[in-house]
Amino acid sequence: MSAPTRTANIARAVQVGSVTAVDASTTSGEPTSIVVTNVTCITHPKSTPSGSVFSTVGTNGVSASCGKPLAVSHTNQGTRTGKGQARPRSDMPTVRDLQAMAGEKPITMLTAYDAVTASIVDDTGVDVILVGDSMGNAVLGHEDTLPVTLDEMASRVGAVARGADDALVVADMPFLSFGADESESVKNCGRMLKEEGANAVKLESGPHTVDLTERLTDLGIPTMAHLGLTPQSVNQTGYTRQATAREDAEEILDLACEHEDAGAFALVLEHIPANLAAKVTDAVDIPTIGIGAGGDCDGQVLVFTDVVGLSESSPPFAEQFGDVRGEVEDAVDEYIDAVESGEFPAESHSHTEDELDDLY
Ligand code: KIV
Repeated sequence: MSAPTRTANIARAVQVGSVTAVDASTTSGEPTSIVVTNVTCITHPKSTPSGSVFSTVGTNGVSASCGKPLAVSHTNQGTRTGKGQARPRSDMPTVRDLQAMAGEKPITMLTAYDAVTASIVDDTGVDVILVGDSMGNAVLGHEDTLPVTLDEMASRVGAVARGADDALVVADMPFLSFGADESESVKNCGRMLKEEGANAVKLESGPHTVDLTERLTDLGIPTMAHLGLTPQSVNQTGYTRQATAREDAEEILDLACEHEDAGAFALVLEHIPANLAAKVTDAVDIPTIGIGAGGDCDGQVLVFTDVVGLSESSPPFAEQFGDVRGEVEDAVDEYIDAVESGEFPAESHSHTEDELDDLY
């Protein structure tokens, strides 16, 4: 959506539904908590007035553009349980916070696969950390993303969630961990939030993920869609540019709208023509996050190892903003030299015990 249109579409958070309070008393009869359900709102995710954040509590938000549920916000509802627990719920962003940013400020998303990297990326202020299945090639030594397992993803998501304070953590669902069977897909996606501390999941999308996106969203699992080049389909498409023909471009536009209608809270567009990405961005109200998709998306995502210059090779659309590989090589070279020359360890790195001098 272009900037002038966005400003014209100032959000109206209009409550049109009913509010039901349940579980409002304990056995002593004293009110302790109120769970509010069935709030229906009309909202426009890309056009929130500057500085304001969606904070409607409820599970049945309806977007003004498509009349389908928005992804559920988890704003300020206590701390999460599970292995991934690391930060107070009150500090965590929600998908609606992210939607409110679209059109106000470009969204930044970067991958991370461990707690140390996550804490660095988080401290520098990235909005979204994607625990990408790109870990397959980026850090696990595979040729592609296909061998990444659900357990590997879960372990990395937990680490990233523990390392991040402020960023929205998105778990990228591995090849065949979703799509074949709905209840298995829901269980696998739910595990990322329930046990590992992710805030949302991402699915490499196609016609087969529309219904699943709706189901996950209904169940409170915010779902990010991903169209264009989807590396899990490398055996069908290779890694080439996608949607260069009109018919394919139309399919991407249709799928983008279908996923928005199904409740996807954001949409990654990978390696598609910039003018198509701009059209998709105009057509949907959810934020688009591009990778090799030009500058008109609402945000950008890259793989961490490409950005910092750690990858041996990176795709043509990536940009290297540092030389961490060079820095690491220099540090390791110095270490080897210091050990071989006897400079390391120095006295300051060692300790002795007098009473051990006459051990034999
Ligand atoms: O796995 C990944 O890192 C991704 C991004 C590149 C979008 O899917």
